[in-house]
Amino acid sequence: MAANDSLFLSAQEAAGALSVQRCDVCGETLNERDASPACPACGGLLAIVHRAPVDAAGAPLSAMAMRQQFAGPCCARPAVAGGGHASGVWRFASLVMPTVGAGMVSHPEGNTPLLPRTRVQAYAGCEGLLLKHEGYNPTGSFKDRGMTVGATQALRIGARAVACASTGNTSASLAAYAAQAGIPGLVFVPAGKVAMGKMAQTLAYGARTLLVRGDFDECLRLVQVASKELGIYLLNSINPWRVEGQKTIVFELLQQLGWEAPDFIVLPAGNLGNTAAFGKALREALALGLIARLPRLVSVQAEGASPFARGFAEGFATRHRMQADTVATAIRIGDPASWDRAVRAIRETDGLVLRVSDEEILEAKRVIDAAGVGCEPASAASVAGVRQLVSRGVVRSSDRVVAVLTGHVLKDPGILVSMHQEREASEGANRPIEIDATVEAVARVIEASRSTEVAS
Ligand code: F0G
Repeated sequence: MAANDSLFLSAQEAAGALSVQRCDVCGETLNERDASPACPACGGLLAIVHRAPVDAAGAPLSAMAMRQQFAGPCCARPAVAGGGHASGVWRFASLVMPTVGAGMVSHPEGNTPLLPRTRVQAYAGCEGLLLKHEGYNPTGSFKDRGMTVGATQALRIGARAVACASTGNTSASLAAYAAQAGIPGLVFVPAGKVAMGKMAQTLAYGARTLLVRGDFDECLRLVQVASKELGIYLLNSINPWRVEGQKTIVFELLQQLGWEAPDFIVLPAGNLGNTAAFGKALREALALGLIARLPRLVSVQAEGASPFARGFAEGFATRHRMQADTVATAIRIGDPASWDRAVRAIRETDGLVLRVSDEEILEAKRVIDAAGVGCEPASAASVAGVRQLVSRGVVRSSDRVVAVLTGHVLKDPGILVSMHQEREASEGANRPIEIDATVEAVARVIEASRSTEVAS
């Protein structure tokens, strides 16, 4: 248990600062500009702790005033003239990085839609289901929200290079933001296990890419040692500033719901950075009076990469590790780094952790894709999770549920080729049809699809 567990800094503890870094385990505090990847005293994870926002007179800002502050620059895509920021991360700066000033490395990012889609609702069995589509971010995944903050921190502390281990999305995001910041980026990815779209982005944006003969968990261990020895700033989700940025997924969806908390927030889980960030965001939103009650947080893992689901089933008595394998390469992780934080997030929100099979993931993906929304396989785990909870009677059809789609459909073209073009008898495959360049050939195709429609 942390020596000092307070959610916000007291004026005394802050000693004039707006934010500090504090160790989860021993409570040691560091200056917000310290580049240590973990607590120098005990090795625990560092978290950012802010002073609660105050008004010009130094009095605590009311929830109403905060909501107004966040509403100002809301959802404006082009940069807003005369103040505010077009980013869906930086309009929450007072709860993310209050001292940022104007120096943010931003594309911008965030401001992602909350989509009601009847076909997906019908599939999941939940009329109140909304899809928070983080694939609308500049590099196509939620990682951009943490990376804009991490890259901003890297720039302001004068980092000479930034690095991460990744299953692909973090590396794509790091590559883009490092390029914008003008800082060299180094990424460690498991050789042969990164989806094509993510690898293509990482290379295109110019990060030095190391294909490690090993899995993600080995990549993470390696980058931690390498960055420490080589003095490179680490930008994995154990970086506390990444967590601050990822909190804005929750702030933004709550804002989109008029600060009425939904009944459930459901997200796919791998390294558990996002589950941890969601827990921190909800804790802070409740303490600041932005919401009146907590939604239940549901983390969904792929069956082949589900140490956290196993832990949950056993009351979190043991921290499990496993050799991970799943079609959802983004969450192919067997030894999640943010375990303890995620346990806290699930416990505090009366949450749940589920496991879904690769078949359930691909079936949900097919439905999300065919609704014209689309997402990468890992993202579909959230909708598969909602469906499972409805069938178990935990979620009712009338419940308000937000499922987070974490990545864009184009992230993993390889799986689409195998779903639609390769497998001979795959159900629901939308095979392309090669024809001669004649109108008759087109007519034959239309006729044939009419008869299959009638038959089905
Ligand atoms: N969904 C997608 C699309 C992801 O890329 C990730 C993680 C997750 C869900 C799980 O989030 O790890 O915070 O529990 N991707 C990391 C990466 C590991 O390297 O891109 P988590």
